[in-house]
Amino acid sequence: MSDIIRLENLTKKFGDLVAVNNVSLNIREGEIFGLLGPNGAGKTTIINMILSLLHPTSGKIFVSGLDVVKNKERVKQQIGMMAQETVVEPDLTGAQNLELFCQLYHIDADAIPAVVKFGLEEADLMKFADVKAGTYSGGMQRRLGLVRAMLQEPKLLLLDEPTTGLDVQNRFSMWQRIKDLNKRGTTLLLTTQYLEEADELCDRIAIIDHGKVVAHGTPSELKRMAGEGEILEIITSPEMVQKAAAILKAKFKFSPDIKGDRIKAIVPKSEAEKLTMITKELEKGKIPIFSISIHLPTLDDVFIKLTGATMRDTTQEAVSPLTRAIGRG
Ligand SMILES: Nc1ncnc2c1ncn2[C@@H]1O[C@H](COP(=O)(O)OP(=O)(O)OP(=O)(O)O)[C@@H](O)[C@H]1O
Ligand SMILES: [Mg+2]
Repeated sequence: MSDIIRLENLTKKFGDLVAVNNVSLNIREGEIFGLLGPNGAGKTTIINMILSLLHPTSGKIFVSGLDVVKNKERVKQQIGMMAQETVVEPDLTGAQNLELFCQLYHIDADAIPAVVKFGLEEADLMKFADVKAGTYSGGMQRRLGLVRAMLQEPKLLLLDEPTTGLDVQNRFSMWQRIKDLNKRGTTLLLTTQYLEEADELCDRIAIIDHGKVVAHGTPSELKRMAGEGEILEIITSPEMVQKAAAILKAKFKFSPDIKGDRIKAIVPKSEAEKLTMITKELEKGKIPIFSISIHLPTLDDVFIKLTGATMRDTTQEAVSPLTRAIGRG
């Protein structure tokens, strides 16, 4: 498979801040590639450089073998884009929004009505064709944004956080649309803060933190980096977390990692009785157990292993939603 995008030692500085730090990656034709990272990791900056909206400080970007800096216009024609903040024209209807884009992309005037109809059907917005887009819900605006990005049938589509802020139902339908597009032959580069999203959609992923690629590979290759074995995860009260970790060390020889009210440890391939034994020992020590589980490594476990922080820590507080709900956090 040939590379549709190649980033070579790409760096972007804003004053003293190194937003993108010596990133080298290749995106292959036909795949869904994910840039996964927390807020401020550098994802949008990378996307904007590929689109030549930003000039790299150093390094090179090739799209279909063309140097992006030297072939701005030719490269732009090949790429569809949905920005992080989808901008629809609020005073135009859904149909008019699509017409406007057809004109911008120089689609043949005779073909425009059919293209608009196709777009509205794709976005499941036929019923709202003549309603002003400014009154659409977030999910509807995102759907319009995605369809608009694919109107010129690009070989390559860049989606910057396509599902951030969407509810579960809209997120799932966006995933389906992305998969369908890919099946029809579009290569996708998307950014996300959601581990589950990267896992579900992407053939390959680069995990980015503070502008650097900390790991890249297929979801299963990455999960194997978390280590052999499975992950024990316990949520207890913040004041008992140290004591619980000490029990795990003393009784089971685990090396627990503590974040807020959450303890994680790598355990040998799961024996079901272990969980019962662990629960018993913790109860003996009067440790409240809000949740206990053994699961296969997730991308979050990989992120912890590589950066020492959970991705959730960087986007939210360290205390788990469960503890917050119980009111102990
Ligand atoms: N135009 C700019 N001027 C100065 N600093 C910037 C500029 N654009 C981005 N940054 C900084 O560069 C870093 C990377 O930002 P970027 O927007 O690429 O992150 P991101 O991974 O897209 O984050 P998010 O998930 O929040 O969208 C951040 O620290 C950000 O504050
Ligand atoms: Mg961004």
